[in-house]
Parts: sequence; structure tokens; C-alpha cells
Amino acid sequence: MAQIALYPGTFDPLTFGHLDMVVRASTLSSKLIVGIAENPGKNPLFSLEQRKRFVEFEINTMKDKGVISESVEVQAFTGLLTDFAKRVNASMLIRGLRAVSDFEYEFQMASANKRLHENLETVFLTASEKQHFVASKLVKEIARYGGDVSSFVPSIIEKELMLLFNK
Ligand code: PNS
Repeated sequence: MAQIALYPGTFDPLTFGHLDMVVRASTLSSKLIVGIAENPGKNPLFSLEQRKRFVEFEINTMKDKGVISESVEVQAFTGLLTDFAKRVNASMLIRGLRAVSDFEYEFQMASANKRLHENLETVFLTASEKQHFVASKLVKEIARYGGDVSSFVPSIIEKELMLLFNK
């Protein structure tokens, strides 16, 4: 069965942890959509357009290098994730689990999403050992205080963070 998988997130900003998930998730379905949520409640540092541009740039780079196939696409969305999943006909939601601390939030979201969209299954991938502690929130804090984030985020994002925090 041709399946469409959706990997949603705020991606504020995209990290190497997210990219690792994209590579691995791309092998699980015939098409993978990376869905960037507006998420105004999280007060993102980067606008939806900027976050989408960063993700598109890195996904295109990975396509050019042959790391992922052409069947990976990027879309931004507003509103409920389950409504977006219905619009794009996704039957699988991909989420990454880094540590036990992620579990409660993820379990709540998966349960709520299942209630809102019965035919949508959440599939959890464990973060790779190298990336398991990389979180966008930490990256922003490190960048804010002038720390080196080059091992956490692609260089275009590192540059934007440096510009933003005047480092
Ligand atoms: O990368 P994040 O911030 O952990 O991703 C969270 C995301 C985007 C998956 C979640 O906030 C979301 O689904 N937002 C869209 C609004 C929505 O549907 N909220 C109800 C979730 S149960």
C-alpha cells in the first residue's frame, strides 16, 4: 500500500537531530512530508517562512547528494495537525523520541491526535545516539550566550543565529 508519512514539528530551528529523523523516516513510506507548524503558542524565534526556507534548503541539499529521494517534500501548515494530515492524505505520523522526558508529551499528543483522526497512526523513532540530546530549545539558548552551535545545526542556521544574537 502506498503510504504517506508526515513528520511534523516546529523546527525552530532545524537541527541535525531533525535531519537524521528525515533520512530514517524517508525509508518507511512511499512519500514523506515534512510539515512545519506555525505554532504561535511556542513563540518561535524564526518566522514560518524562514523555518520553511531552512528546511527546504537542507532537504534539497540532501536530495542533491542522493542521501534522500525526491519523494520527500516540505510544507508549512497552520491550525490542527490532524486537519493538515487529512488534507495531505497522510496515514502515518512520525515523531522522534530522544529521552524518557519526551515520552509524556508525545504520548499525550499521540493519544489526542488518534482521537481527532482515527486512521492516523503515530510511529516513534528513537533519536540516533549521536543526536539524542539535541533540542532546538537548547540550541537557541547556547547561541544566545555566544556558544558554538556548529555541531547541532547546519551552517546556514548557525549564521542566522549569530546574526540574530549579534555574535
Ligand atoms: O517540534 P515540536 O514543537 O515538538 O512539534 C510540535 C507539533 C508541531 C507537532 C505540535 O505542536 C502540533 O501538532 N501543532 C499543531 C497544532 C495541533 O494540532 N495541536 C494539537 C496537538 S495534540
